[in-house]
Amino acid sequence: MSYQRLLMKKIIIAIDGHSACGKSSTAKVVAKKLGYMYIDSGAMYRATTYNFLQEGVDTKNPGQVDQALENTDIQFKIDGSGNSQVLLNGTFAEEFIRTMEVNQHVSEVSAISSVRRAMVSQQRQIGTEKGVVMDGRDIGSVVFPKAELKIFMTASLEVRAKRRQKELQEKGVFEELSDISSNLKSRDEADSTRADSPLVQAEDAIVVDTTHLTFNDQVDKIVKLAEQIIYDR
Ligand code: CDP
Repeated sequence: MSYQRLLMKKIIIAIDGHSACGKSSTAKVVAKKLGYMYIDSGAMYRATTYNFLQEGVDTKNPGQVDQALENTDIQFKIDGSGNSQVLLNGTFAEEFIRTMEVNQHVSEVSAISSVRRAMVSQQRQIGTEKGVVMDGRDIGSVVFPKAELKIFMTASLEVRAKRRQKELQEKGVFEELSDISSNLKSRDEADSTRADSPLVQAEDAIVVDTTHLTFNDQVDKIVKLAEQIIYDR
């Protein structure tokens, strides 16, 4: 470890915002640049949703939900490229959790309080040592209200839908732009209006609108903000 890195103050960076505004891809690179751990909290809700769908859980039945939560083990593991990947019950889950089916159910599952309690407690556990970049919807408002840096990312719906379509195409999946757009819109609506930990902009969050920013610009912006805090600039 370099001398400079030893002197670094470790902080928590919370990145919240609307669906598909580039939070995850940005957070991942920011974490790499700072030598921090990256945690995709959305992947935890997605993996839980996938497991509930597999087990045919009736989300209106609290007993079934609690039972299914007991059978849902979520971990993060660093893969060969140095990226943290989500594991569901011991298996890499990435390829199963970004489907339209999961997209259509994830906001409903994420609105269940017992699900949120389980995820939030694990997220706080991961953050005890700091040096973490976590992205989601409630990271700056609920999970880490004392995070040293809070970012609220957004972009126009049109740009977000196009970016998500391109991302899926790169994985060989084609979805109509209108279907992507309406899913993003309905998730934003559901995530922002749910009773438990809705998506809100924390009072002390810095807004980063990525509609007209390049990917590198948005990464640089957040890294600079983080370095100001880390090195007391
Ligand atoms: O990548 P994308 O922006 O499409 O979504 P995501 O970050 O993977 O999150 C998927 C869904 O999980 C969101 O639409 C929320 O319903 C839920 N979520 C949440 O409730 N709280 C979080 N901290 C993260 C995600």
